[in-house]
Amino acid sequence: MLRYLTAGESHGKYLTGILEGFPAGVRVSPAYIAGQLRRRRQAPGRSARQAVETDEFEITAGLSRGVTTGAPIAVCLLNSGRALPAPSSLPRPGHADLPGMLKFGTFDATLVRERASARETAMRVALGSFARRLTEQLGIDINSRVTALGRLTSLNAAATAAELLRARRAGDTLGGTFEVTAEGLPAGLGSCMHWDRRLGPRLAAAMLGINGVKGFEIGGGFGLAAESGIRAAGEPELSGGLDGGITNGRTLTLRCAVKPVPGLPGGAPSTDLRTFGKKLCVSKTSDTTAVFAAAVVGEHAAALELASALLEKFGGDSLPEIGARLEEWRKSTGKILRRL
Ligand SMILES: Cc1cc2nc3c(=O)[nH]c(=O)nc-3n(C[C@H](O)[C@H](O)[C@H](O)COP(=O)(O)O)c2cc1C
Repeated sequence: MLRYLTAGESHGKYLTGILEGFPAGVRVSPAYIAGQLRRRRQAPGRSARQAVETDEFEITAGLSRGVTTGAPIAVCLLNSGRALPAPSSLPRPGHADLPGMLKFGTFDATLVRERASARETAMRVALGSFARRLTEQLGIDINSRVTALGRLTSLNAAATAAELLRARRAGDTLGGTFEVTAEGLPAGLGSCMHWDRRLGPRLAAAMLGINGVKGFEIGGGFGLAAESGIRAAGEPELSGGLDGGITNGRTLTLRCAVKPVPGLPGGAPSTDLRTFGKKLCVSKTSDTTAVFAAAVVGEHAAALELASALLEKFGGDSLPEIGARLEEWRKSTGKILRRL
C-alpha cells in the first residue's frame, strides 16, 4: 500500500511531501516532475499570480541517480517569496474560511486559508508524478481532458480563450467538468469484498478530495439512472472500467464536476466576524477557472490510488518484480478476456 502526507501553507517557505511504500527501480527524472507541475501551473484560466510561482523543488530522499530506491520519498517544494497576508476576520464565501474559523476558534481567516488553499495540490502533483511514472513503466496510460468550461461543451483553444476572456471582463469565474482515463489497467485491481476495498470509493475520495470538486461519477455515472437495463447491458463501457469495485480490464473513466472559482474580483458578500458588518470580500488574484488545473491534479490523484491498488495486487519491492508478476497476470487473464 502507498501512503502519502503533505504539510505546508500557501505562504510558508516550503510545501513538504512524503510518499511511503513506493517500490525501487522506477525511473523518475526531476524534469518529468517539473513538467507535470508546469502543466498545473500554466493551465488555462489561472491568474497572473501563477507567473510569480516557479514551483522549484528538491527531492531530498528516496531517489538516487534518477531511480527510486524503495526508501520513503521526500519532496520539498518552494513557495515564491510572497509576504504573509494581513490577518482578516472577513471570511471568503465558498471557502473553508467560515467553517474553519468556527472549528479552530480563530477570528483570523488567513490562518485557515493558508492550509485550505489549493496551493497544496502542487504537492499532490509532485508526489503523484512518481505514481504516474510507475504506471507508465507498467504500460498504463493516465490522461485527462476538460469536457466543459461553464456551459461551453465544444472546447477548442480559441473557444476556451474567448470564454475565459468574456468571464474575466465580466468580473466572473467559471466551473466545468473534466474526465480522467486510465488505459492498459489489468483486470482484478480493487476488491468486491468490503466497501472500503472497492476501488470506486477509493477513487471517489481521491477525486472529491481536490479543492472545488463537487461531483464525481464513474463511466455512465448519473446518466445510467435514466438508462434501461437492456440498453446498459449492451454498452459495457458504461461501467467505466469497474464492476463490483474491481477493474474489468476496460478503460477506466472518471468524471468530475468543478464548481466556479468562489473568489470574485468584484467581491462576494460576506460578514466580518468581529464587527458583524456586511462587506464585500474581494479576490483580486483569483483564477478565472480551476477546471483545467484540477484535471491535471486529478490525473495525479488517480495515479496515486491506482499505483497503490497495483502494489496491493502484485506486491513486490522493485519495478522488475512487479512488472514480471503483472506480465504473467496479463497473459493468463488475457487468454480469457480475449475470448469474451
Ligand atoms: C488548482 C486549483 C486552483 C484554484 N484556484 C482558486 C482561486 O484562485 N481562487 C478561489 O477562490 N478558489 C480557487 N480554487 C478553488 C478553491 O480552492 C476551493 O473552492 C476552496 O478550497 C473550497 O473548497 P471546496 O470548494 O472543495 O469546498 C482552486 C482550486 C484548484 C484545484
